[in-house]
Parts: sequence; structure tokens; C-alpha cells
Amino acid sequence: MRSRRPKNKRASNQWADHYTRRARKDKFPARSVYKLQEIQKRFHLIRRGDRVLDLGCAPGAWTKFAAGIAGPAGAVVGIDIKKVDLDLPGNVSVLQGDVLAPDAAVAAALAPGFRAVLSDMAPATTGHRDVDAARSLTLGEAALGIARAHLLPGGHFVCKIFQGPDFEAFVRQVRNAFSTQRLYKPQSSRKASREIFVIGKGRTQEA
Ligand SMILES: C[S@@+](CC[C@H](N)C(=O)[O-])C[C@H]1O[C@@H](n2cnc3c(N)ncnc32)[C@H](O)[C@@H]1O
Repeated sequence: MRSRRPKNKRASNQWADHYTRRARKDKFPARSVYKLQEIQKRFHLIRRGDRVLDLGCAPGAWTKFAAGIAGPAGAVVGIDIKKVDLDLPGNVSVLQGDVLAPDAAVAAALAPGFRAVLSDMAPATTGHRDVDAARSLTLGEAALGIARAHLLPGGHFVCKIFQGPDFEAFVRQVRNAFSTQRLYKPQSSRKASREIFVIGKGRTQEA
């Protein structure tokens, strides 16, 4: 995936190298794992025994991390348009499919009963801020729709968004569906990136 040119390329490369090396050492396929690790440390979204849905799961770092927390009594379902080529524990099932146009297998996997819905989905970036933000928002709205339909009462949601013009409206939608809503930028997220994580804790009942 192509990302925007960092303002300070040297510093950004050092940052990327640090987390990439660490991920390799910790046996995760992507440095994105440290974003979820920080989110989990702060917000406790996943517990042992939980059923977790991971949208945009390739190459599998979040899925592997979530599966480790949920443990054998829990389960993680990962979905991505890309194939995931990673040895994952037995409590994980991964489907290749498009969240925006679910086929029958993806639709069947999106059954109610998840305790946490995670979305690190990101569009292929164009370099045009507003276009990328609009596409990211479309993915976020799809993830929120799935979370509203399939989370257990009290369940939790985290969603990556590239901030753009309609970001505040999205945050309001999350606030309306959860008891608590927060925004979070992990240390391991590149400073120059416009990505931010919208957290919803405690799915509320809707009339
Ligand atoms: C930043 S990566 C996710 C990294 C992942 N969380 C990890 O830790 O390994 C974003 C992913 O979103 C996926 N994605 C983008 N649009 C999607 C869609 N419509 N349906 C499913 N996945 C999508 C991409 O294929 C890409 O793998």
C-alpha cells in the first residue's frame, strides 16, 4: 500500500524500521500490531473467551494478537480482500472477501454474537487527501454498520479512519451507538499520518 510522503523522511524511516524490526522479532507479520497492543492496553477491548471480528485483517498481525488474548475459549474471525498467508492458532478463521460487497461466505460469517469488532481497514491510497479520507470513511461506515448489527450488548468497537471533512459526523454516529466514545492516536502510529482510531465501548441497545 502506498502512503503519503512523510515530512521528515529520515525520521519516518527510522520509526518504521524500529517497529518493523520489533514485529519481526516478536513474530508478527506487520508493525501495525503495536497499534492494537497500545489500544488494548489503554481500552481493554478484548478479553479471554471473546468472539472477535477483525475487518481488514491481512497480513494477520491484529488477528494473531487478538487470538492470543481471546485464547482457546474464544474465537477470531478475520476478513480481508487480500489472502492471509500466516500460520494462525486454531481459534482463528480467515475469509477472503470484500466487506463492502460481501459474498455468501462473508455474509454467513457476519453473524451476531461478537464481543469486539476491530477495523484496521484502509483503502489503497491515491495521495489525494480528500479522496483517501472519503474512501476510508466508506470503510469505517461499513465497519460501524457491521458492529451495530452484530455486536453483543456491551460489546466494543475500534475503527481506523483517515481524518477528512466528514470525520466529525462519523464520530457522532459512534457516540450514538456506544456508552463511551474516544479518539486515540497510538505512539506507534506515524505522526504525519492522518489516521486515528475511533473507539466505542459498551454497545447500547437501539430502539
Ligand atoms: C493496514 S492493513 C490491515 C493490517 C492488519 N490489521 C494487520 O495488523 O495485519 C488494511 C487492510 O484493509 C484491507 N481492506 C481494504 N478494503 C477492504 C474491504 N473492502 N474489505 C476487506 N478488507 C479491506 C486491505 O486489503 C488491507 O489488508
